[in-house]
Amino acid sequence: MKKSGVIAIDGPAGSGKSTVAKEVAHRLGFLYIDTGAMYRALTLKAINKGMDFSDNEALVELSKNTDIELKESGDSLKVYLDKKDVSHKIRSMEVTTKVKLLASLKDVRENMVKLQRKLGSLSSGAVLEGRDIGTVVFPNAAYKFYLDASFQTRVERRFRELKEKGFSISPEEIEADVRNRDASDMTRKVAPLKKAEDAKVIDTTNMTVEEVAGKILEIVKKWHTSFLALF
Ligand code: CDP
Repeated sequence: MKKSGVIAIDGPAGSGKSTVAKEVAHRLGFLYIDTGAMYRALTLKAINKGMDFSDNEALVELSKNTDIELKESGDSLKVYLDKKDVSHKIRSMEVTTKVKLLASLKDVRENMVKLQRKLGSLSSGAVLEGRDIGTVVFPNAAYKFYLDASFQTRVERRFRELKEKGFSISPEEIEADVRNRDASDMTRKVAPLKKAEDAKVIDTTNMTVEEVAGKILEIVKKWHTSFLALF
């Protein structure tokens, strides 16, 4: 299968995917695509509309009729839902706890994956991060990474991150959320979170963002060099 110009980064909550993916994309001049933000935006829309989260058909219909855009703005990524900036709102705890209800629906995922593939193919190089990038969205990605870290480290990172964003959530709530999401993301029937066979695992527990990004870039460059050496 022909390789695409995609770097796939998967892993559980708090493994450092977003920050690292953003940094790697920035250093390579690639497009950065946060696929979790798309599932979050859709979930926010369902909440705003007061939808019944057990009505799968209505949720699938919603995913067909929703406009989600990602735009890089300086150091941050802006998320637009039907043309409105929802970058902050999609990080709320309500969205975080409900997102799994949408993310476990096969037809919702199909619509999201279509959009992700379109975005990832538009640019000559893209870094996509999520749960199923290396396994489902871009199985032919040029490079695949699976980031992980100890449970405690991941909880601490989420806590710091949400505090910095101005959300007041207790460490206990974060711990429960990370535990529940790990469980539902890893055990759902459709596109569960798992390491792609050919992904390189990086344990980020004792690493800084710069170290992880540096390691990824080193591998990407090494593979590039050996690939070019064939000619
Ligand atoms: O912020 P955090 O890294 O914890 O999560 P996220 O990347 O924003 O994703 C939020 C949720 O969306 C995940 O817990 C998954 O349930 C779902 N998701 C998914 O199913 N597939 C993806 N490719 C990305 C996210």
